[in-house]
Amino acid sequence: MAKLKIRYLGDPVLREKAQPVEEIDEDLQRLIDDMAETMYDAKGLGLAANQVGETKRLFILDLSQKEGKPELLVFINPEIVEAEGKVEEEEGCLSIPGYSAKVRRHAKVLVKALDREGKPFEMELEGLGARAVQHELDHLNGILYVDHLSTLKKQLFKRWWKKHRPK
Ligand code: NI
Repeated sequence: MAKLKIRYLGDPVLREKAQPVEEIDEDLQRLIDDMAETMYDAKGLGLAANQVGETKRLFILDLSQKEGKPELLVFINPEIVEAEGKVEEEEGCLSIPGYSAKVRRHAKVLVKALDREGKPFEMELEGLGARAVQHELDHLNGILYVDHLSTLKKQLFKRWWKKHRPK
């Protein structure tokens, strides 16, 4: 396994629409393993492939938040098939380190995807899980959570980012 370089806001790859995965092979599984190592190292709970420069429709999550008990979830070619409710909560992103802001998201989602082996599955998520899925799916469409902020908050964020963007 190898740690990958996380791309920061401003890197054009984060604005690209990721392409569907057509083949689940060893190369893709190696990418998943590398993404997992990168995510755990950065202490994130989710990571989308374009955050490490790969424009593939793939993201990973680990919602367990428990020390020493990882539960990696892999979503290949994910789609939200149902969504309900609205809730506003704090959000952050490994591509925008050090910042967080409240974003409105659906409270509950039903997601359809393929797992690491290419097997289709459906998963119903709420709370943090539902939020994370919507955040990661946004990444695959070239959207970052700060895009959802109000005009004023966006201006404040841009000023903050100018000073704090990692070199
Ligand atoms: Ni993110």
